[in-house]
Amino acid sequence: MSQPAPILDLDLFADASLKDPYPAYCRLRDAGAVVRLPHTGVYAIGRFGEVQAALRASDVLISGEGVGLSETFNASKGMNVIQTDGALHRRMRATVTRPLSPATLKAARADLKAMMKVRIAALTGRGWFDAMQKLAAFLPVEAVSHLVGLPEAGRDRMLEWAAAAFNIIGPRQAGEDVAKMQEAFVYMGSLDAETVANGSWAAALFAAAHSGKLSQQEAIAAISAYVIPSLDTTILASGHLLGNLATDPAQWALLCERPELIPAAVLEGVRHSSVLRWFSRVAADDYAVGDSIVPQGERVMLLYGCANRDERRYPEPDRFDVTRDARDHLAWGTGPHMCAGMHLARIEMEVLIEALVEAGVRLSAGEPVMGVNAGLYGFVELPFRLS
Ligand code: HEM
Repeated sequence: MSQPAPILDLDLFADASLKDPYPAYCRLRDAGAVVRLPHTGVYAIGRFGEVQAALRASDVLISGEGVGLSETFNASKGMNVIQTDGALHRRMRATVTRPLSPATLKAARADLKAMMKVRIAALTGRGWFDAMQKLAAFLPVEAVSHLVGLPEAGRDRMLEWAAAAFNIIGPRQAGEDVAKMQEAFVYMGSLDAETVANGSWAAALFAAAHSGKLSQQEAIAAISAYVIPSLDTTILASGHLLGNLATDPAQWALLCERPELIPAAVLEGVRHSSVLRWFSRVAADDYAVGDSIVPQGERVMLLYGCANRDERRYPEPDRFDVTRDARDHLAWGTGPHMCAGMHLARIEMEVLIEALVEAGVRLSAGEPVMGVNAGLYGFVELPFRLS
């Protein structure tokens, strides 16, 4: 006999909770394998094992009814890779992932590293600066601009569009975010083979559309999938990594001594401070979690950042430890919708840390300013110094 899911009086979207979600995550995990949140009118899963299983159960917990909580975000269901299921999803994902394999990205790594080294040299010994703007945002913006091949116009708006896209997944809508998303749609819709750079990912998509392999709309959806989910995610994850390394000199010293730990440190960074808070699914049939069920037709939030701090999976989960094996973390999901850009994100973060280690610098961080985005957890400002 299944039990009703425990009811939890928790507002995950209150400003205080967005700035420090961990006390609420702890209550949520302890309350049950799945809980009901009357504040938001949905179910939520926060324990590691159960979030992992739910992400893999894509035949029952579907994305095609939208993965946000708002009508505004979910209105584009069926039109972007993240809000589709089955054969349509596989087709869209195959298009998006073509240039994003580790083998294809290997060629870009050396260029990204060289750019990062120049940037670090320019910032070293120059006093305090905002690491979000000057360090964390640098490679994601360069990569999107150059690899995707977008025209100059619009590039300066991309960061605002990306933040707005994640804020509107939440239950409360800000008119200005909706307007920014409309602006982004107009920009994406204005792109064509003439406006994007020769030899770029976007040029390849328009060539495929020209030869009838894709529709023009599919090409534009794929370009949006390179731009919107790739910026703030990687920028905020880099910010957390910088903050964690600067405030724990022993961990930084260990990385400098053993740079072979850098790939593990990046994975531990995204586990410890997961930037994407959640996406949701709709149960196409009753879905059992522990002793309870998510009834057919109900929406359920899957909390990546909460799962990654689950003491049932990771000993001392609140500790940032570059020697931890965090390879199974859920910061980029798992299952069929697992992040399509994770190899690029990993390269960007590895290159950032490698270049800092090779520069032989000491890191210092001041008090960060935390953002209040409904979908993303991270700093809007991080005072930083390289000496
Ligand atoms: C640290 C950086 C990143 C994090 C934490 C992150 C996180 C995630 C997560 C959790 C999902 C799963 C969504 C789901 O379960 O429905 C996802 C999907 C996705 N991500 Fe990322 N992401 C990052 C960087 C990127 C980058 C750099 C790109 C593009 C170049 C990208 C493109 C995508 C796309 C297209 C999907 C949808 C995949 C699908 O539905 O099949 N992401 N990401």
